[in-house]
Amino acid sequence: MTDADRELYDQAVAVAAQAYAPYSRFLVGAAVRARDGRIFLGVNVENAAYPLGVCAEKSALAAAATAGCRPGDLEAIAVTASPCGGCRQWLVELALERVVYARARDEVVVATPGELLPDTFEL
Ligand code: THU
Repeated sequence: MTDADRELYDQAVAVAAQAYAPYSRFLVGAAVRARDGRIFLGVNVENAAYPLGVCAEKSALAAAATAGCRPGDLEAIAVTASPCGGCRQWLVELALERVVYARARDEVVVATPGELLPDTFEL
């Protein structure tokens, strides 16, 4: 893991405090670094209608897309949890190069989206 990865992960940890997770109480933060250096942050945002909640990764990636980022523009994402299946599909779609994530308590690892989701669905 590079120093930049560690810095990005620290930003994900910091923003996790802003998560809105009154139902699960599981606070997740995500930080995306674009190739041009911009950083986009996201948290999980839950809803009383449970399936409507949004994961931290999707919040951060949606912020990046809103700012104009497209597949190939994003270098890395750091997440304070192990990305769920749906988020792995998003990581593939937006062609992240590196995913820094907490695999278990105190274990932060780096993987590619392809390693996290092999044989990905593509249109
Ligand atoms: N969650 C995320 O935000 N990202 C993940 O990768 C795993 C799960 C959120 C969704 C929900 O708000 C809470 O964690 C419990 O599942």
